[in-house]
Amino acid sequence: MSVLDGIHRVGVIGAGQMGRGITQLAVAQGFTVTLADMGRDIAERGRTIVGKQLDKLVEKNKLTAAERTQMLARIEPCDLYGKELELVDFVVEAAIEDVAVKREIFATLDRACRGDVVLATNTSSISITTIGAAVTRPERVIGMHFMNPPPLMMLVEIIRGLATGDATYEVTRALAERLGKQTVLSRDIPGFIVNRVLMPMLNEACFALYEGIGSVEDMDVAIQLGLKHPMGPFALMDLIGLDTALSILEVLHRNLGDPKYRPCPLLRQYVAAGWLGRKTGRGFYHYPPPAQPSGAIRVEPAS
Ligand code: NAI
Repeated sequence: MSVLDGIHRVGVIGAGQMGRGITQLAVAQGFTVTLADMGRDIAERGRTIVGKQLDKLVEKNKLTAAERTQMLARIEPCDLYGKELELVDFVVEAAIEDVAVKREIFATLDRACRGDVVLATNTSSISITTIGAAVTRPERVIGMHFMNPPPLMMLVEIIRGLATGDATYEVTRALAERLGKQTVLSRDIPGFIVNRVLMPMLNEACFALYEGIGSVEDMDVAIQLGLKHPMGPFALMDLIGLDTALSILEVLHRNLGDPKYRPCPLLRQYVAAGWLGRKTGRGFYHYPPPAQPSGAIRVEPAS
């Protein structure tokens, strides 16, 4: 007997970089995934991108072509308001980092999904208690925070809201472990553990750039080699998405009320310009299409 016995179909809401990564993890473990976004076309595009990721694994002999085909066949794209969500046994929401959007999505999920289904959110910073207050089953709402990119990063932070039940926690932890992750438990305080520590550092890097302390490249090299971080702060913000980084900082600033979390004006300016990082092809670096990353080219700051 396992707490996961009744869980065969996972609903993933949001077919962005995190939703796609979580989908890939789930189908690799034999789950079927109902992948929902604002429109079915966006979810279908998400499935196509997961297929391209799987192609890379086939090229590296980490997956057979037959396994790739089977995994892809287990992804069923739909839109958020489709009947398909009636069938899911567990949900992970990974839409944009906006509390109003998440509360609206959870209210929709509450109406669509069976009463026993856990509604987890991959939010980076938003209060689980606040999201839970949007549904009739707050005891089944929990934070399940994957790191980016989900297939590679070993950690899942689990966050219990004020009303989250023990059974919800147990099933969420078991699912994270089935997906190959180590879990840690965080209290429901904005930013949780990882982003409470990470985001002030990334914001400080933006302020340091704003003050002209060093170039983007020099600061990335300094932090990588000087602190033995796998990536510098600007490369990491480009990976996270500058819009997402700004949203997280705004949550910290607004909800903790401490001016030390004030988002750097330079970060706001980049987001206003639509320079969101890898996902738009330009952030602190330029990413030539279609192969994003490995060869990033530096661009001049806007200011
Ligand atoms: P993204 O910008 O790549 O994707 C967001 C997706 O949400 C898009 O496909 C968008 O169409 C969809 N969406 C927007 N409104 C929606 C709605 N009303 N209903 C359904 N789908 C909707 O964002 P990303 O990076 O995948 O982030 C998603 C969530 O994961 C956010 O809460 C973020 O804070 C969290 N997260 C992000 C990490 C990162 O490094 N980017 C790391 C860990 C968590």
